[in-house]
Amino acid sequence: MGKSFTQSSLTKKFVMAFAGLFLITFLFVHMGINLLVLLPSTDAFNIAAHFMGTNILIKVFEVVLFGGFFIHIIYGLILQVQNWMARPNRYKVEGWSHTSPFSKFMIHTAVIIFIFLVIHMADFYFKAKFFGGVDEVMIDGKPYHDLGALVLAKFQMIGFVIGYIVAFIILGFHLHHGFQSGFQSLGLNHSKYTPLIKSLSTLVSIVLAVGFSIIPLVIYFS
Ligand code: HEM
Repeated sequence: MGKSFTQSSLTKKFVMAFAGLFLITFLFVHMGINLLVLLPSTDAFNIAAHFMGTNILIKVFEVVLFGGFFIHIIYGLILQVQNWMARPNRYKVEGWSHTSPFSKFMIHTAVIIFIFLVIHMADFYFKAKFFGGVDEVMIDGKPYHDLGALVLAKFQMIGFVIGYIVAFIILGFHLHHGFQSGFQSLGLNHSKYTPLIKSLSTLVSIVLAVGFSIIPLVIYFS
C-alpha cells in the first residue's frame, strides 16, 4: 500500500466523518420536529415542517444536507472498494479489527439506510415538494401542507410501522460505530476522551433509534 494511497484514504475518511457527524445533527433536529406529530393537534408539526420547507436559511441547509449525504455515500463507497482491493482475501479478517462487530457491517447497514431513504423520500418529501397528493389544512387562516395527517395515515399500516422500525434499528447500528469512528477520523483520539466518545456513541445511537421508533409505535397503538 503506497503512502499516497494512505494519505488520500485519510483525507477521504476526514471528509466522510465531517459529513457523517453533520448528518447526525440533522437527525436530532428531524427527530425533534417529528416528535411534535404526537401532540394532540398536528398544527405544531405542520407549522414546523412548513418552516423547514420554506425558510431560506433552511433551504440553504437542505442543499448542504443533500451534499452531505452525497459526499458521505460516495466517499464511503470508494473507501470500501479500496479496502476490499487492499485485502483481496477478505474472509480472513479475524483479529484484524479490534473494534466492535458493528464496524464490519458499515457498508451493509449503509445500503439498507440508503434504500430506506429512497422509500422515505417517496413517502413524504417528493410528495410534499413535487408530486402533490398532500392535503391542505388552514392554521390561523393560513394554508399549510397537512404532512401531519399523512404521517398519521402511513403509520396506521403495520407494514410501514415494521419497515420503518427495522430501518431505525439498522440506523442505530450504523451510528453506533459511525459516531465514534467519525471522531477518530477527525483526529480526536485520546486515551482520556475515547471511552467517553464510545459511551456517547452508544447513547446517540440508542436515543435516535428509540426516539424515531416511538413515533410509529405510538401512532399505531393509539
Ligand atoms: C418516524 C420517523 C420519521 C418521520 C415521521 C419522518 C417524516 C418526514 C417528513 C414528513 C418529511 C418531509 C418534510 C418536509 O418536506 O418539510 C421528511 C423529510 C426527510 N427525512 Fe424524514 N422522517 C422520519 C425519519 C427519518 C430518518 C430516520 C431519516 C434519515 C435516516 C430521515 C431523513 C429525511 C430527509 C433527508 C428528509 C428531507 C429533508 C427535509 O425535508 O428535512 N427521516 N421526513
